[in-house]
Amino acid sequence: MTEASILFLRACLAVLASPIYLLSFLGIWEPFCKKVFFPFFLEKFFAIHEKKTNKPKQELFRNLPDFKSPSGELKLLEIGTGCGANFQFYPPGCKVTCTDINPDFQQGLSKSMDKNKHVHYERFLVAPGEDLHQVPSGSVDAVVGTWVLCSVHSVNGTLKEVLRVLRPGGAFYFLEHVAADRSSWKHFWQQVWYPTWKLVFNGCCLTREIWNNLEQANFSELNLRHITIALPWMPVQPHIIGYAVK
Ligand SMILES: C[S@@+](CC[C@H](N)C(=O)[O-])C[C@H]1O[C@@H](n2cnc3c(N)ncnc32)[C@H](O)[C@@H]1O
Repeated sequence: MTEASILFLRACLAVLASPIYLLSFLGIWEPFCKKVFFPFFLEKFFAIHEKKTNKPKQELFRNLPDFKSPSGELKLLEIGTGCGANFQFYPPGCKVTCTDINPDFQQGLSKSMDKNKHVHYERFLVAPGEDLHQVPSGSVDAVVGTWVLCSVHSVNGTLKEVLRVLRPGGAFYFLEHVAADRSSWKHFWQQVWYPTWKLVFNGCCLTREIWNNLEQANFSELNLRHITIALPWMPVQPHIIGYAVK
């Protein structure tokens, strides 16, 4: 019965979003989404989202300076940087390498860089989280990924690369929206939204239980909390936040 309801509601949403499905069928939607819609949406949406995540992010990144290397430097690599929503939380003088699969965030990214002059921007790499081969093994003190493990093709592959580029004792900071409790209505609606959401929002998957991937990755220490971020009417309220030490 539940399966049938999910399929029925998915079909209803697909009808409502049929112009997007048609554009996708014609091969037009994905390049448009990547170049125009998603960068525009992300910049506007994150202005709202920022207000909700400001406090948890401040708390999350508070101990970033503890992971400075013995020379006193903090080399940080961000995966799926998008428009650079996290730069404001990085400590002064921190050396940041930005990576993303989408090079079309330049406008939002430049604005964020101009606002956050306390950070030293080293380079921008167009690279997927699953393949950071331009970054030497054990070369960074911290890796940051927020709202990115929902979209990568392989969460385990990305965590493997994160562990490779981190120096021993370095840390991976994360804030991710995740699957709701399987017995909840929120999970039901996440399943209903899943295919249309993934198409509209550039591959974003709503029902990933990312805490399992983090628990099974070979970090020596995992600090993880489940929190809810109040985004009314959106199927992305359950989150995990924390950091894992190599
Ligand atoms: C929802 S946005 C979040 C952006 C930013 N991290 C933030 O919190 O504002 C997801 C980002 O992940 C990027 N992305 C998607 N798949 C990726 C992959 N396989 N490797 C690296 N980045 C990826 C997207 O291009 C996009 O910039």
